[in-house]
Amino acid sequence: MKPVLIMLLGAVFLSGCGESESKVDGRWYTPSLVDNGKRLFIDNCAECHGVAAQGTLHWNKPAANGKYPPPPLNGTAHAWHHPLKGLKRSVQLGGVPMGGSMPGFADTLSDAETEAVISYFQSQWPAPIYQAWLDRGGLK
Ligand code: HEC
Repeated sequence: MKPVLIMLLGAVFLSGCGESESKVDGRWYTPSLVDNGKRLFIDNCAECHGVAAQGTLHWNKPAANGKYPPPPLNGTAHAWHHPLKGLKRSVQLGGVPMGGSMPGFADTLSDAETEAVISYFQSQWPAPIYQAWLDRGGLK
């Protein structure tokens, strides 16, 4: 199935059985997806990335153990350099396979839940960052 289709099905499912709901400011997600994502983000991600996805202060310098601290996902770091597919992969696989320390969530979050957490941290991105992400092919 095409990712776009999965995304749409996920959005429709999470927004309550086929009711149509308008998207947030022309973005790919709906307000109810963001609401669900916020709950999931607080339960699974906030202990490291912060409740508002603000990350840690010195995220771009390795800590004493040589690992990088959790980066912000709110548009101030690099998350917007990755297309939706890449962000999904990061969340599903985590950073451990690449020598990092983030656990993978493939066994914890469904595909739709993974998209929901992404919609939540993307909802923290200012409009120019979201636009730059689209221009780089964020939804391709
Ligand atoms: C135990 C701490 C921890 C938890 C929990 C965690 N992360 Fe991470 N995350 C990190 C760290 C540290 C990195 C940097 C790469 C690495 O070391 O693995 C990272 C990197 C990322 C990246 C890549 C950012 C970029 O700029 O490329 C994304 C996206 C991300 N995390 C999303 C999430 C989401 C969504 C959740 C919850 C489902 C989550 N993380 C849970 C610690 C965590």
